[in-house]
Amino acid sequence: MKKLFVADLVDKVGEEVELYGWAQSIRDHKKVVFVDLRDRSGVVQLVGDESLAQVSSEDVLYVKGKVKERPEHLRNPKIPTGSIEVEVLEFKILSKAKALPIPIEGDGYKISEEARLKYRYLDLRRERMKRNLILRYKLLRKVREFLDSKGFVEVETPILTKSTPEGARDFIVPSRLQKGKFYALPQSPQQYKQLLMVAGVERYFQIARCFRDEDPRADRAYGEFTQIDIEMSFVSQEDIRSLAEEMLVFAIKQVFPEKRFLKVPFPIITYKEAMEKYGSDRPDIRKEKDPDLLAFCWVVDFPAFEWKEGENRWDATHHPFTSPKKEDLKYLEKGEYEKVRADQYDLVLNGFEIAGGSIRITDPKLQAKIFEIMGHKKEDIEKKFGHLLEAFKYGVPPHGGIAFGFDRLLQVILNEPSVREVIAFPATSGGRTAVMDAPSEVEPSQLEELGIRVVEEK
Ligand code: AMO
Repeated sequence: MKKLFVADLVDKVGEEVELYGWAQSIRDHKKVVFVDLRDRSGVVQLVGDESLAQVSSEDVLYVKGKVKERPEHLRNPKIPTGSIEVEVLEFKILSKAKALPIPIEGDGYKISEEARLKYRYLDLRRERMKRNLILRYKLLRKVREFLDSKGFVEVETPILTKSTPEGARDFIVPSRLQKGKFYALPQSPQQYKQLLMVAGVERYFQIARCFRDEDPRADRAYGEFTQIDIEMSFVSQEDIRSLAEEMLVFAIKQVFPEKRFLKVPFPIITYKEAMEKYGSDRPDIRKEKDPDLLAFCWVVDFPAFEWKEGENRWDATHHPFTSPKKEDLKYLEKGEYEKVRADQYDLVLNGFEIAGGSIRITDPKLQAKIFEIMGHKKEDIEKKFGHLLEAFKYGVPPHGGIAFGFDRLLQVILNEPSVREVIAFPATSGGRTAVMDAPSEVEPSQLEELGIRVVEEK
């Protein structure tokens, strides 16, 4: 590969180089023309004769040139390549650019989000967005490196699957081969990761895409988001919490060396204390709000069940696979569900819930009982969760896990106002995809093949 990154030019003074990139700005001084050439790594100043004046902003260029040291008084200390410039010997415009519909200099926060998402491929040229993308990749890479070093195996689980209750609405996909039946996109890989424990994988992780049809918020993307999903066998709640802490400290220290941790190990607060002292189950325990301060804390001992007023039934606070605390099983027997605490833990960062997990139920009878408490009928339980209850009859190891909202974690670390600032192509708040404009209508023949008729709303 001949392409050099412009950031690597600083030690190439005197050499002839070939460069590719975008013309960021053009300064025409008639006989001499300056062009700032940008590639992914940075910007370098090109110097050429009047022929360079035909270049316009955001054109894609090929340049052959000679790297020169700039005279002392013309150096620009603000950019890493400020001590050099490239004298253009030859250049070619590979692609002309029209005037851009949105500006790409500056942080872009003031531009309408709709325009930014419609032209996301331009918005991502913005320095801040490019940096966010790269940091996202770096953090993920460190997470993988850490989990690999601890003997975890990354396993992919199906996207076309069956509903897994995580408390949101499902996205459903019609089946062509079995007309009238539907897949659900996973709200999380919860049941599959538990089945992998039955399979003997022992230490699983996945950078998993999760799909939830719920209203977007600043810290919640519409439609899909990414989890660092983890499950382990033969562990206690403490084991999982300390693994999660070690992983975060390892990865964040290397990718964000400027960040400070308020307290390591992370403080543990019970749900009751959090509600009494902070009035929230995701307490922000910072005293001062320094942009580089990361205040992690665990919240534990959540009530296992919450009463759903409108539906007149109990629901699982986390999800129905969460084990009640052993010492609270007696309340379950007595039907005093409000007193049962869950063997569950949430991780909170600066007031945002960035992870949640639990020790799971492995006794098929207890699991069936929990579904019953939640109001599922016996035949429904068999239909919806029979596979899991059956799997637990063939030797299930005690297990538990955790899932991090990766987008949200990054949003908080980077102090971004919305989770969409750390996702390459997020959906709009109205649920339309960036750039591609989905959802959209399909051909009548496609519907026919699926046996689906769309009813017009009157
Ligand atoms: P839970 O539903 O709590 O647990 O999800 C785990 C973490 O994912 C993040 N999160 C989101 N991030 C962005 N957009 C969303 N719409 C969104 N929804 C959730 C949160 C949350 O803490 N299967 C269990 C985990 C387990 O028990 O192991 C689960 O999915 O940061």
